[in-house]
Amino acid sequence: MTTSTARDLYYDPWDVALNADPYPMFKRFRDQAPLYYNEPHDFYAVSRFEDVNRTLVDYRTFSSARGVVLEILKSGMEIPPGVLIFEDPPIHDIHRNLLSRAFTPKKINALEPMIREFTIRCLDQVDGDTFDFVKHVGAIMPLRVVSMLFGIPEHFQQRVQEDGDRHVRTERGGQMTDNPDGAITNGEVFADFIDWRATNPSDDLTSELLEAEFEDETGVVRRLRREELLMFMNVVAVAGAETTTRLIGWTGKLLSEYPDQRRLLAADRSLLGGALEEILRYEPPALQAARYVTQDVEFHGQVVPQGSAILTLIGAANRDERRFGDTAEDFDVTRKGKQHITFGVGAHYCLGNALARMEGRVALDEILNRFPDWEVDLDNAVFSSSSAVRGWDSMPARV
Ligand code: HEM
Repeated sequence: MTTSTARDLYYDPWDVALNADPYPMFKRFRDQAPLYYNEPHDFYAVSRFEDVNRTLVDYRTFSSARGVVLEILKSGMEIPPGVLIFEDPPIHDIHRNLLSRAFTPKKINALEPMIREFTIRCLDQVDGDTFDFVKHVGAIMPLRVVSMLFGIPEHFQQRVQEDGDRHVRTERGGQMTDNPDGAITNGEVFADFIDWRATNPSDDLTSELLEAEFEDETGVVRRLRREELLMFMNVVAVAGAETTTRLIGWTGKLLSEYPDQRRLLAADRSLLGGALEEILRYEPPALQAARYVTQDVEFHGQVVPQGSAILTLIGAANRDERRFGDTAEDFDVTRKGKQHITFGVGAHYCLGNALARMEGRVALDEILNRFPDWEVDLDNAVFSSSSAVRGWDSMPARV
């Protein structure tokens, strides 16, 4: 197998038309060009599960510190401190340890009743026989949950959403670095809230982080700087809301296309956990993650030179027959066996994975309670054009 630049074998993460269904192309990459080189945009890509896994695990060779969104990495822009998804150990681990206080199993489990209540409130807003998976639930509930974690009052949450959208969303075929407001938000949207919380402490994560003392990478024991805290909140809001929004849109689409499987789930809710895993595997909201290559490294007999950008095609790895067998391309909510790589792996393994899984499961459970049958209206669905997160801005269904 060799690196391929063949014209008919082409992947461009900013090509909205190609992104509408990248899976046939992904299969060809796995089979014909497991190490792919894109000449016009000068990046490499790996597509087999084993290669994606290896790349994400080896943070020394494949660095996150220049950004994990391809256009941010390629731009060479300066990454502000506190964006832990764009950091390497040791500073990454220090920041992650601080933030992980909010994501203990006990804290996440305690959120379930509130997630259920929010979802029911969202479903109460549906008027008539059209329900939109994204607009009614997906775009609202996950952000509420993140806000709840931080103790952000409800009236303030809309601003947070708008700020995140402005930064993650791109024009058709556009790149995040084209954004006139900057590709990475500075988190200023949270500033008023943080200042208020500093003088009005509560039992939320923000108060805990404001108080937390830690040893930084230079050995100094200190508290988080204001800009670091702002960035933390921003990363969680963007990483935690947008992705789960897309998961709920994909859930609506897939279970409309496979009504027998939907009926199975409606009748036996013990299958919901497994079904969620299959939805996550089949349509991962974060289709790819980029890395910067810190030293020459070999894939399939070809050298990827130090200084290159490499894309890990998570969506391609999730359908790799070498891992998931002959039925890898099939959607099957009763599938058992190997884990997908939708939440990444290694140092950056998604901190919110348990929360996202719970949100997805509870949302589906409550939607099935309210609307056991639905058919999505793809003619009026709106595909989102972000290069970082793949999914739908609107997924209307007749219920
Ligand atoms: C279906 C929903 C989600 C998906 C598909 C997803 C996917 C991912 C992936 C692939 C990564 C690793 C990126 C990399 O290695 O470069 C990641 C990291 C992260 N995610 Fe998620 N995520 C989801 C939901 C959430 C939620 C709900 C939260 C929090 C509320 C969250 C917070 C984070 C954070 C903080 C990181 C950075 C971890 C680190 O750098 O150590 N995510 N996520």
